[in-house]
Amino acid sequence: MTIYLEFPKGFLWGGATAANQCEGAYNVDGRGLANVDVVPIGEDRFSIITGQKKMYQFEEGYLYPAKEAIDFYHRYKEDIALFAEMGFKTFRMSIGWSRIFPKGDELEPNEAGLQFYENVFKECHKYGIEPLVTITHFDCPMHLIEHYGGWRNRKLIEFYERLVTVLFTRYKGLVKYWLTFNEINMILHAPFMGAGIYIEEHEDANQIKYQSAHHELVASALATKIAHEIAPENKVGCMLAAGQFYPNTCNPKDVWASLQEDRENYFFIDVQARGEYPNYAKKKFEKLGLNIEMTEEDLILLKEHTVDFVSFSYYSSRVVSTDPENVEQTEGNVFASVKNPYLKASEWGWQIDPLGLRITLNAIWDRYQKPMFIVENGLGAIDTPDENGYIVDDYRIDYLRDHIIAMNQAINEDGVELIGYTTWGCIDLVAASTGEMSKRYGFIYVDRNNDGTGTFKRTKKKSFDWYKKVIATNGTDVN
Ligand code: BG6
Repeated sequence: MTIYLEFPKGFLWGGATAANQCEGAYNVDGRGLANVDVVPIGEDRFSIITGQKKMYQFEEGYLYPAKEAIDFYHRYKEDIALFAEMGFKTFRMSIGWSRIFPKGDELEPNEAGLQFYENVFKECHKYGIEPLVTITHFDCPMHLIEHYGGWRNRKLIEFYERLVTVLFTRYKGLVKYWLTFNEINMILHAPFMGAGIYIEEHEDANQIKYQSAHHELVASALATKIAHEIAPENKVGCMLAAGQFYPNTCNPKDVWASLQEDRENYFFIDVQARGEYPNYAKKKFEKLGLNIEMTEEDLILLKEHTVDFVSFSYYSSRVVSTDPENVEQTEGNVFASVKNPYLKASEWGWQIDPLGLRITLNAIWDRYQKPMFIVENGLGAIDTPDENGYIVDDYRIDYLRDHIIAMNQAINEDGVELIGYTTWGCIDLVAASTGEMSKRYGFIYVDRNNDGTGTFKRTKKKSFDWYKKVIATNGTDVN
């Protein structure tokens, strides 16, 4: 039995979820409709989340998994008790914006929505679990999309400011760790799901996406400012869909292409962590003929209110080639990637690369020197219960073990500063890219199927006890 070096004292072990993928209760207690509600399971989902097909309301013949999801809204006490049993130090979850402001532009918040999250946070604290809260995990009230065009409109900064002010005030003393936007770079890849943007055919997609990104970046800096003003102990992080790009060959053209691809993603964090638009981005805007409207005040806000820590999701590394004709692409990824012959892949074609996590941790650390937090990592897999309803998910344990060892090496051998790790979908939930329930990540099985059938019953998988041991030994026993 190999025993590894300990993780830092106080390391935040836990799990992660998002409101729209687990809460359900989409129209309960005054909640308004959001973009994340109207994305169905099935073959149209991809074109809807990426903004190629417009769907602004529920349509006949489609199934919308977020409507009920796993019913966390009514079962959070049972779920948090299970997280506590595993020894979670932290629980990452998100706020459904339209629970707090059903339309998004009201002046007064919806008390029932505020009360719900207060109850959840108090339930966490009952067990000594520190909430880690994503302010928006892909969601945007539909009213803001239909009447303002989503984040393409500068007005959204004002509505977001109102939202965060209410949250920081109400949850002062209950929540300390905040993330402003989940996977902020997703705006480039899935603009409808990521930022409530639908791009018309005649429009310049880059202009709209980068203008919207600017609005989110300013909103993020403003949130950081307000969080610190309301409670100095607040820690605010940015959140990147990470995963280093590898050149397909040592041809300098491939190496250059991989640098460009990395920059496309790091651009967001460069602004949020360093406080200004990098030169390469300004040059890119010039080259593309983009005119991103920004004020002097925006630039001051960005400069003065950088994030306290850098968080990211990591599932896979990526590969880029300048010879696309002669390479094979992976399937099932919002981020396009060339297949890496050295790696195995999940049932959904996501390539498995634990060393890639160490590489990514080092790259982010070298770039920013800010504390890091891995807020998503995990394996989406098909789980088949045995005759007793038990799931022996050794494949998930193997995936997580290898990634935890990579984190351990990055901390203890490379010296990066990592403050926590929350595995994605610690309880089975709806997959964001496909809307499937069958793509499961959890330590806890939820009896819910793609077609909306099932009892919502929760059952511990084999990985439940394994993760409990990992946490109890602070990462030294991962066998
Ligand atoms: C991240 C998102 O992109 O990846 C999560 O922040 C998402 O919301 C996760 O669920 C895994 O992706 P998927 O499509 O397998 O759910």
